[in-house]
Amino acid sequence: MQRNKTVAKHVFLLESYFLVCYKYASLYLQMGFYNMARKKLIAGNWKMNCLTEEGVALAKSVAAKVKENKFNCDFLICPPFTILAAVKKCLRGTKIALGAQDVHFAEKGAHTGDISPLMLTDLGCGYTIIGHSERRVDHFETNELICKKAVASHSAGLTTVICIGETGAERDAGKTIKVCQDEINGSVPNDATAKNTVIAYEPIWAIGTGKTPTAADVQEVHAAIRKALAKKLGRATANKMKILYGGSVKPNNAAELLSLPDVDGALIGGASLKADDFIAIAHNSCK
Ligand code: PGA
Repeated sequence: MQRNKTVAKHVFLLESYFLVCYKYASLYLQMGFYNMARKKLIAGNWKMNCLTEEGVALAKSVAAKVKENKFNCDFLICPPFTILAAVKKCLRGTKIALGAQDVHFAEKGAHTGDISPLMLTDLGCGYTIIGHSERRVDHFETNELICKKAVASHSAGLTTVICIGETGAERDAGKTIKVCQDEINGSVPNDATAKNTVIAYEPIWAIGTGKTPTAADVQEVHAAIRKALAKKLGRATANKMKILYGGSVKPNNAAELLSLPDVDGALIGGASLKADDFIAIAHNSCK
């Protein structure tokens, strides 16, 4: 009798112990501390800038500085299509990946002026940005089209950086999280994994303006994006997927923004055109 009571007490203690461990483990995951496993990605979006000479000089300068320093982060640069091949040569022997800024969803065929995923891998690209707000606005790209581009890119072996983010008016109307959830649901394909997809949250009103949301706002939106990813792709995938912040990232604000638990790097426009600024962002945030 006494023995049974002792056994029951031990079983009870063991159960309580496991329950407490489980609770702490899930809290740990929910709070994004799991990002220890998510290496930061410092990505440059050169947009429609740089002829060959300028682009080669910039790429060489970035490559030399990355080699010099031992940064604990991954690097990506996305020049315009016209200089991808020239820039690729400058990145040999470095750990800087090359990406494009858009792609067509078809493998090949009658699509004048477009570039296919296989053409990008043929040039040595490992990534492509898709759904940037400048393409959503200038080229009327929809979530549906972006999703098709992502599927085609993934099957060609490219990793996509899928951009989402709200306009100033949407933010003022309190719709930021809803807009991001809808863009995640509409533009991220079901085949997305932490290996083939990176999300970039870029509030449109912050791009190229020098304005940024507060750190608390950025963390709130990133956590909501991870939640939407978990709903769509499962918690394990969502916890491993990188979510970058983009929009006026500069050397002086990078440390704060990139130290947030759900911010796994930055997509940098203007500041990626100056090697010193781009490297300073990495230096200040990838210790
Ligand atoms: P910005 O651009 O850093 O110049 O604001 C970011 C982007 O559009 O990717």
